[in-house]
Amino acid sequence: MSNTEEFRAFVAVHGDEATSREVRDDLGMESLGDGDVLIRVSWSSVNYKDGLASTFNGKVARQKTHVPGIDLAGTVVQAPDDAPACEVGAEVIVHGYDLGVAHHGGFSEYARVPSHWIVPLPHGLSAREAMAIGTAGFTAALSVQTLEDRGLRPGDGPVLVTGASGGVGSIAVDILAGLGYEVVASTGKADGADWLKELGASGVISREETSDASRPLNRERWAGAVDCVGGSTLSYVLSSLRYGASVAASGNTGGASLNTTVFPFILRGASLLGIDSVQCPIEVRRALWQRLATDMRPRHLEVLATGEVTLDELPTALDAVLAGRLKGRTVVRVR
Ligand SMILES: NC(=O)c1ccc[n+]([C@@H]2O[C@H](COP(=O)([O-])OP(=O)(O)OC[C@H]3O[C@@H](n4cnc5c(N)ncnc54)[C@H](OP(=O)(O)O)[C@@H]3O)[C@@H](O)[C@H]2O)c1
Repeated sequence: MSNTEEFRAFVAVHGDEATSREVRDDLGMESLGDGDVLIRVSWSSVNYKDGLASTFNGKVARQKTHVPGIDLAGTVVQAPDDAPACEVGAEVIVHGYDLGVAHHGGFSEYARVPSHWIVPLPHGLSAREAMAIGTAGFTAALSVQTLEDRGLRPGDGPVLVTGASGGVGSIAVDILAGLGYEVVASTGKADGADWLKELGASGVISREETSDASRPLNRERWAGAVDCVGGSTLSYVLSSLRYGASVAASGNTGGASLNTTVFPFILRGASLLGIDSVQCPIEVRRALWQRLATDMRPRHLEVLATGEVTLDELPTALDAVLAGRLKGRTVVRVR
């Protein structure tokens, strides 16, 4: 890799009145962000946040000329001798922190990042499989681990997953079912039920049923819940948790505001557990990726990875993720 080599990347330019998006093939090494590790990127993935980072008024990108992509997998081509876990030639994963937000991301043939963002690709996962999991799958795993830390165990009763056909939701269904939980999936997609049952859901219910926030308390139904929808869905989930149960909340595709009462908390001992994959400490991140390659390994990665696109095909995929039309995960073949 010479310092004068040019490479391809998908670039969003955020202007005052619009955002333009194009694949450029003339980016130089000087355009990459700060960092001591240079990675030749092979795969990335499409996340809801990438849609926001590529659109006008998305309020996510913190650079005017921006390479989105909050996930990447690739091979280290330059690294300092003393950097742990990232010797030249090592296969690695990077996601979270500023990647694809305030730092050029994974929709690029090369990325430069600080060594303390690096996760070694665990044995048992290919780079493509790791990106089929990506930030969404990591967030699903973090949600499940957080519920387990709070005491949830298989056999406790049904666990609800909302936004179940999306990235976080579908991988949460797969992981929970693989660990032996009874999973009920909530989806707004009329044709989603068979697919979610294939991933391991024992029951599928409609988005309408899980977004009725009209009552402060409903029948106690769920032993736990993974919610990436927020809004009235999270209100409903809180109102229908069983005594002492918890919901792991990670997203806002259904709205950012939360209207609830104190009753789920003071009458049922319910807990609302916040999930953040972005600033999750690197030690937790590396350990959880080991679980994603072993006991939490999604059992249906080929079914979950419903789409594969190139850099040139990204605009359609990014529009689809923002419109809630994507099912499962879409990987990006970067080279
Ligand atoms: N906290 C974190 O660290 C973290 C990490 C990753 C993602 N997130 C957030 O988690 C959310 C999901 O991310 P993702 O990558 O899974 O996105 P995604 O693939 O687009 O999935 C989101 C799903 O939400 C459901 N949905 C969409 N619009 C909705 C609406 N208006 N009302 C109710 N449900 C709706 C849809 O599922 P159904 O059709 O099946 O209902 C959709 O597939 C996003 O808000 C994202 O920003 C947070």
